[in-house]
Amino acid sequence: MENLNLINDYNENIEEYIRKLRNNYTNNKVAKIVTHGCQMNEHDSEKIRWLLEKMGYIFSENEEECDLVILNTCSIRHSAEDKVYGQIGRLKHLKQTKPSIKVAVCGCMMQRDESREYVLEKFENVNIIFGTNNIYKFPELLYKNYCGKKLSMDIEENFKNIDDKLGANRLYSYKSYVNIMYGCDNFCTYCIVPYTRGREVSRDPYEIIEEVKDLVKNGTKEITLLGQNVNSYGKSLNSDMTFTKLLYKINDIEGLERIRFMTSHPKDISDELIYAFKDLDKLCNFLHLPVQAGSTKVLKEMNRRYTKEEYLEKIEKIKKINPDIALCTDIMVGFPGETEEDFNETLDLVQRVEYDTSFTFIYSLREGTKAAKSSEQVPENIKHERFERLLDVLYPIQLEKNKAFINKIVKVLVEDLSTSKKGNVIGRTSEFKLVSFPGDESLIGKTIDVKIVDANTFALVGEQID
Ligand code: SAH
Ligand code: SF4
Ligand code: F3S
Repeated sequence: MENLNLINDYNENIEEYIRKLRNNYTNNKVAKIVTHGCQMNEHDSEKIRWLLEKMGYIFSENEEECDLVILNTCSIRHSAEDKVYGQIGRLKHLKQTKPSIKVAVCGCMMQRDESREYVLEKFENVNIIFGTNNIYKFPELLYKNYCGKKLSMDIEENFKNIDDKLGANRLYSYKSYVNIMYGCDNFCTYCIVPYTRGREVSRDPYEIIEEVKDLVKNGTKEITLLGQNVNSYGKSLNSDMTFTKLLYKINDIEGLERIRFMTSHPKDISDELIYAFKDLDKLCNFLHLPVQAGSTKVLKEMNRRYTKEEYLEKIEKIKKINPDIALCTDIMVGFPGETEEDFNETLDLVQRVEYDTSFTFIYSLREGTKAAKSSEQVPENIKHERFERLLDVLYPIQLEKNKAFINKIVKVLVEDLSTSKKGNVIGRTSEFKLVSFPGDESLIGKTIDVKIVDANTFALVGEQID
């Protein structure tokens, strides 16, 4: 096995544990990773997959064939946690017919005391627990479990640089996620992430650039830079580095075609970053700028630190600099204290901005956050009704935006075969529009000129042009 270069740097015997596991326990064993939550978790799962491969594991989607199942969990909403409890329960039954199966639970839920303690109390079938900031501990914990420990557990509150040094067994070779920062210091009053991911830490720009160069050498055409609030990149570094400066450096990397990033916080979006959307040829025509709510009163209660007017001004500036940009948002309905009037402000805002895409949520109370303590929780039926009314406003606008692409010729980076239409492939435009068009496997990973012939609310239909 090649040298992983991990031991000397950090005095952690990761490589040694992997070797012992491979030689004695895990070679040719079968594993499955179930990933919940956001792109951060997806990328963490790619790191876990890389470790598993080093240990000699092979992969299967069928849990009954597995020797190890890893649940990478999310805490963002109550429903996300419930799904995981259901899965651990199912695995408990599987253990009755297959006692050797091991269950590992990691990710954001394990960083929360309440959720972790619930798992420990209810499910004695869990063998390994680690968190979002110590994936590198997984081999050690697994090894100790094989040596007889019933439950191996370790949690780290804040990010340590060791996980950065792990490789990633990426799902796609032509589009890759790259972490640029970890954690979040914003403490939006509804949000659990600052408690599950710890304090904000920016990654060394040199390491980021080297990683991107390496990915491009291996076929990556599109990178997505990941962070909870990428606009504040650099604040924890002792230098004058900013997110926009990093974008300019990455834009210079030869062979790279597209740059995306997520997520930006409206309070921190700078004029330089807005200008970069005009200036940088590789930066995609797409901005995800979550607004959360349209009422300034609610935004204040959420601790978002911008007003409705300030948000709209930024949007105006962005549209002026780049009229073709596609805009995306996250919106929540039913935040504590949200009145009918407040909700109407949200409807007004989405009509004014005209988003291309949106992620919409019903507020979910998260114990431990400030908003959970509010006595003004909105009743469930009102939350659901507002949610439906919001979609009724968002979707017709999205449909119109998509229809405007009909007859246009766009560049599509082909991602996969279509699962809904046989004989078609799917890919994305620079604006992150999903396009389906006739094609075969040979197109995957290529950038193809496509003429759009039809559109619906969620996707475009096209034809390849010669
Ligand atoms: N860091 C990102 C968001 C990560 S969470 C950002 O600030 O934009 C993704 C989305 O989940 C949030 O934008 C928010 O809309 C939603 N969300 C977060 N906490 C929630 C809660 N308690 N209930 C419902 N939705 C929530
Ligand atoms: Fe949560 Fe706000 Fe941080 Fe986003 S910026 S992760 S919504 S606390
Ligand atoms: Fe992501 Fe869910 Fe954690 S949204 S950061 S996996 S709580």
